[in-house]
Amino acid sequence: MIRIRIPATSANLGAGFDALGLALNFYNYIDMEESDRIDITTTDGNTEVPTDETNLVYRSAKDLFAVCGKELQGLKLVQTNHIPMARGLGSSSACIVGGLVGANTLLGNPLTTDDLVDLAALIEGHPDNTAPAFLGGIVTAVFDGKKVHWVKQEVFTKLKFVALIPAFELKTEKARACLPEMVSHKDAVYNLSRAALFSASLLTGKLENLRTAVHDRLHQPYRMELIPHCREVFDIAYTHGAYAVYISGAGPAVMAIVDEENEFFAGKTKFSLDSAGLSDWQVSEMEIDNQGTVLL
Ligand code: HSE
Repeated sequence: MIRIRIPATSANLGAGFDALGLALNFYNYIDMEESDRIDITTTDGNTEVPTDETNLVYRSAKDLFAVCGKELQGLKLVQTNHIPMARGLGSSSACIVGGLVGANTLLGNPLTTDDLVDLAALIEGHPDNTAPAFLGGIVTAVFDGKKVHWVKQEVFTKLKFVALIPAFELKTEKARACLPEMVSHKDAVYNLSRAALFSASLLTGKLENLRTAVHDRLHQPYRMELIPHCREVFDIAYTHGAYAVYISGAGPAVMAIVDEENEFFAGKTKFSLDSAGLSDWQVSEMEIDNQGTVLL
C-alpha cells in the first residue's frame, strides 16, 4: 500500500483567474494499492465518495495508466478527506493529483513532473488548482490547451490564510456558468495588472498592495451573487485587519490573508460571523504548503 498526501489549494487569488493558485497545509490522504477489482472506502466511513469507476481518484489513475499504454483492472483505495468538498479549496484537484501521483508511483514513475502537471490540467480543465496541489507553493500557470507553462515559487512569509467556509456547496460548473462570455478591454487590463501585482507583492513582502491586487472584474462580482452574505463576510474580515480578502477558487469559501501577528483574527471573525447570524460559516486557519503532493 502506498500513502499519498495532497494539500488543499486556493485558486485565482483574486485577479489571477485560471492562472494563479497556492497550496495550503490542510490535507487529503489516499492509500492505494493495485487490485483486480475496485475497492474504495473512506477512513471515517461517512464522507460521501463514489465507490465505483466514477470515483475521481480512480478515474485519474485509470487515465494515467491509459497514457502509459496500460489497462487498470482495479484499485484498492482508502480516502481520508479533510478538504471540504465543493467549497473552492481544491477538493477535486486533490483527487485528480492524488490519483495521478499514486498511479505513476505504482508504475515505477514513467511520467515526469511536467507530464503530471499537464495531465492534471487536462482532466480538470484549468491548471490553477491542480498545479499547486501537485507542486506546492504559489504557482503561476498558463494552460495552452495542451501543455501547462508554469513557475512554482516557494513562499516564506509571516502570513496566515484564513478560510471562511459556509455550510453550502457551490459546484465549479455552476460558478463558471454565471461568468460573461466577453469582457471589456478596460476590465482585462484591470485584472492582468492586479494579477501580476499579487504574486510580486506576496513574494517581496509588499503586503500593503494585496488589498488592491485581489480586486477583480472577471469572476468575483458575478460569483458574489451565488454566495449569500459574501459581501458581509468580506467586510467582517477587513474589519478585523485582513490584508486582503477574496473568493477562494470558484467559491463559496472566502479567503482572508492575515498577518501572523494578528493573533486573534480567527476568533474575532468567528465571533462577528456568529453575531451576524452566520454561525454556519466555519473559520479555518491555514498556512502555505511549499511541498505539494508527497508520498509518505
Ligand atoms: N479558476 C477556477 C475557477 C478555479 O475560478 O473557476 C476553480 O477550479
